[in-house]
Amino acid sequence: TKDINVQHPIRNIEHIRAFYKNFPTRLAAVRKGFNRPLTLSEKILYTHLYHIEDARDFKRGHEFANFRPDQLVMEDLTAQSAMQQFLVAEFPKVQLPSSIHCDHLTLASEGAIKDLKVSNYDNRVTYKFLSDVSDKLGIDFWEPGAGIIHQETLENYAYPGCLIVGCDSHTPNGSGLGGIAIGIGGADAVDCMSGVEWELPVPKVIGVKLTGELKGWSTPKDVILKLLGILSVKGGTNAIIEYFGPGTDTLSATGKATIANMGAELGATSSVFPYDSHMMDYLRKTGREEIVLMANKIAGDLRADKAVYENPSKFYDQVITIDLSTLEPQVSGPFSPDADMNLSEMKENVKKKGLSDKIEAVLIGSCTNSSYEDISRAASIAQQALDHGISVKCPMFLSPGSNLVKATMDRDGLTQVFQKLGVTVLANACGPCVGMWNRKNNPKRKNTIVHGFNRNFRKRNDGNPLTEAFLVSPDIAVAYALGGRLSFNPMTDTVTGKDGKAVKLEVPHGNELPPKGFARAGTGCHTATFKTKVIKIDPSYDRLRLLDPFPAWNGKDIQGLPLLIKVKGKCTTDHISPAGKWIHYVGNISRISDNTLSVADNAFQPGKLDHVFNQKTGTYDKVSSVAKSYKAANQFSCVVADENYGEGSSREQAAMQPRYLNVQVIIARSFARIHETNLKKQGILALTFANPDDWNKVQEKDRISVVGMKDFKPGKPLTVILSHADGSQDRVQVNHTYTDRQIEWFRYGSSLNMLRAQNQA
Ligand code: F3S
Repeated sequence: TKDINVQHPIRNIEHIRAFYKNFPTRLAAVRKGFNRPLTLSEKILYTHLYHIEDARDFKRGHEFANFRPDQLVMEDLTAQSAMQQFLVAEFPKVQLPSSIHCDHLTLASEGAIKDLKVSNYDNRVTYKFLSDVSDKLGIDFWEPGAGIIHQETLENYAYPGCLIVGCDSHTPNGSGLGGIAIGIGGADAVDCMSGVEWELPVPKVIGVKLTGELKGWSTPKDVILKLLGILSVKGGTNAIIEYFGPGTDTLSATGKATIANMGAELGATSSVFPYDSHMMDYLRKTGREEIVLMANKIAGDLRADKAVYENPSKFYDQVITIDLSTLEPQVSGPFSPDADMNLSEMKENVKKKGLSDKIEAVLIGSCTNSSYEDISRAASIAQQALDHGISVKCPMFLSPGSNLVKATMDRDGLTQVFQKLGVTVLANACGPCVGMWNRKNNPKRKNTIVHGFNRNFRKRNDGNPLTEAFLVSPDIAVAYALGGRLSFNPMTDTVTGKDGKAVKLEVPHGNELPPKGFARAGTGCHTATFKTKVIKIDPSYDRLRLLDPFPAWNGKDIQGLPLLIKVKGKCTTDHISPAGKWIHYVGNISRISDNTLSVADNAFQPGKLDHVFNQKTGTYDKVSSVAKSYKAANQFSCVVADENYGEGSSREQAAMQPRYLNVQVIIARSFARIHETNLKKQGILALTFANPDDWNKVQEKDRISVVGMKDFKPGKPLTVILSHADGSQDRVQVNHTYTDRQIEWFRYGSSLNMLRAQNQA
């Protein structure tokens, strides 16, 4: 159609053509293996089996299967260790289409131009390393300021029916276009780049039926915040959330992407939506008509089988219904994305929960909410403020998702609307979402901020543990900036215009897609030339090092490990490896390890962070210092953890650092999926208490042994002996989810060691 602005040829088009050509044959093999009606998740996932002849009705939640994805995406933090590892494995080039996106390391302070200048200088060696490895190994390299990984994925790499994996937990954003996108760890990425099997626990499938249609102030963001309130941050663990019902067809592709993005907050493996006309429109507007034509040919199978929709409770593990017509705008927070409530309940909650009513900063954009639809709706509220002379009551920032969106915003005058209102427009990058926010006058006291991002863990945005962040849609974020209070409700309350009159904000409006098409924009993507032959890292640069392999297991029982820390309560990957200033050192394992578990709660030292007992010296010290003192004495150690250990971002360092510090075993009440796999890949023994109450038996000065290791087999429990300081012992049973292949990883010392050995054989 005429309004398509083709930005560039469709990336990996040959691969995509082959995918659509082979889809019917592969699906036929899956149907034969399953011999029952299929959900959409199953159709997409299992047509990507590494060995299609393995297709059978896998036991959801109980076994593993091996896949070959279509595309790998990595951001500049996770790509560092993924590429360091891939280099160690010594492959000449990547074996599947891959891309690196420079978005996480970009500063958010003064505005796009100045911040990019500073960031480009600060990160020059890291960017050069990533750009060189991309050029050498055949990877698309997206330069800093070009956009955020997930937005770029949606605009360039995602397509109906595809399977994308990405080294970032919000990779599922790419599922907005009718495929499945899954967050993985860096070591998994190495498998994918090496062309070997990528293993995934067979997910359950949760069906979410959407009925009705959103109206007024409600947006797709509210759908996922509501679902978080229903299911909690653990409710989607090891599951794909499959949306269906007439409501799905009313949501834009980018709205679906927002919902899928925050499936990560549910702990979900991914989310998926049936292919529809909104996806076709989005593909066309982003110059991918050829994909629409190919997808249309298999459209009947880009949705679940009819029998599934007729009897959902028979085919889904759980079914939840959300009526979009009655859905109110939601607010979630502080400190957890599932602390969800209706906006109209906020007034009462401010009092009841003792929240700080005054809003001190508002942020919008990010990978979660910076589509043209989001921005144009938000701008319609900003425009009302300009029309009535209403000012923002606190600093406000906008992080656009990509060059494409930003150039279109500029052309359509939307950027200018925000700027007139005093909003700081940041670089097309993660910025405050990932803690790169240089927050001026950071209050270092309890204070409230509101944003349209996806995470609100303590310290996430500004490093201040006392900042209480609330998640909302971009519409409500702008309204909050104008109202200035958490108790403000734009649907019932008014703001004061410059003439002193009360103004009731009108319902926001926007365009699902830019009516004039997307503006032409430089993509900021560099295609590999393969001219780079040698990768050099300046040894004086303390932010990047090549990796040394971890030691192999000695094949014996694990005896007498000192307890390093017994973690109590929530422990996300942000607690294991806090971001903030540390993210500069993700490329140097020795340096970044100094932050290990520094903000996790020690069950024996409540209120004292980074304070654990050193059994060698009899004194207390930082977690990393104690671990390093054991390591210096050639001693491994053990971490004991609570429920859902390692939830949150897929941060690879959260597994590599303990391993580097000689942690050999982690025993938890339960693990978050990606983190558990990351631990296994790094060669750590990840175990769970068969009886979660046995966690209580662990004492501060315990020595911990794992026996029965000669019989380390899939599905076979092991025994842990807790030797207490008073000479008594407790024997407890522990479970694990290791497959034969994962046991080999442990034997070799890491999955990478195994890969390298195979590569050299
Ligand atoms: Fe970046 Fe935040 Fe998204 S860190 S990738 S914008 S979740």
